[in-house]
Amino acid sequence: MKKILLTLLVLIIMLTVAVGASGCGQNAKNQQEFSQETIGSSEVKEEDTIERIKKAGKLVVGTSADYPPFEFHQVVNGKDEIVGFDIDLARAISKELGVELEIKDMDFKSIIPAVLSKTVDIGIAGFTITEEREKSVNFSIPYLEGDQQIITYKGSGIKGKEDLKGKTVGVQIGTTGEEAAKKIEGVTLKQFDSVDAAIMDLLNKRIEAVIVDVAVAKAYASNNPGKLELVSETIEDEAKAVVLRKGDEKLLEVVNKVIKNLKESGELDKLIKKWFIDYKPAN
Ligand code: ARG
Repeated sequence: MKKILLTLLVLIIMLTVAVGASGCGQNAKNQQEFSQETIGSSEVKEEDTIERIKKAGKLVVGTSADYPPFEFHQVVNGKDEIVGFDIDLARAISKELGVELEIKDMDFKSIIPAVLSKTVDIGIAGFTITEEREKSVNFSIPYLEGDQQIITYKGSGIKGKEDLKGKTVGVQIGTTGEEAAKKIEGVTLKQFDSVDAAIMDLLNKRIEAVIVDVAVAKAYASNNPGKLELVSETIEDEAKAVVLRKGDEKLLEVVNKVIKNLKESGELDKLIKKWFIDYKPAN
């Protein structure tokens, strides 16, 4: 009897272990399948972005066309068009992908949200690479360098940062110009959705200064001859790059390749000459 009981006990133990082990095996298998699926799906997601762009036949680029010579409105053959350095870069990227280019004009502050919500594929708007932005998006390799500049109206008497104490400075919301203005002591900020609106206020002397990228300050000054002045000392800013969704690594590779090729072939220098040296805004 004892022996039978013992055999039974051993049998039960063996059975428990076996079930346990197979259960574990099952678990492990599930886990493996799960993780493979996850890797698989993220790969599929990657392909999707480029494939989606190709299927749609167009690359959708978000910009804020208030920033000559990076991107701005111009009447070409009686038609309002968005042109500029960034637009030529966007076209080179769409060409590499073999698709059309669609430009979506929006407030600067809406571009990163539009990239994140997939309303646009990428953002190109003279974006400065910043640590804060890097938390939510990817940046391409830089395609331009350039600092920020204080622009004032003629006769304002503003010669440097220190003269801005107690003055009102116009900035475009969400820009590094806004960040720079916040750091100047005693300044009152006036926020604008567009740089055009800020410059309008400056021309009407409702504000004393605006902070934008150097090249943009120059473009607005030559657009309004005799009315605006640039403060000689500039404010340091980082390089400019294209904004992409995190995870769109393959698209990032394509964008980087295009920028690298433009640099190596001398095309980028030609674009810099075209938009930042030779280009004269029509008044
Ligand atoms: N470089 C500045 C920044 O990244 C200003 C860019 C503004 N661009 C524009 N298209 N309005 O914050």
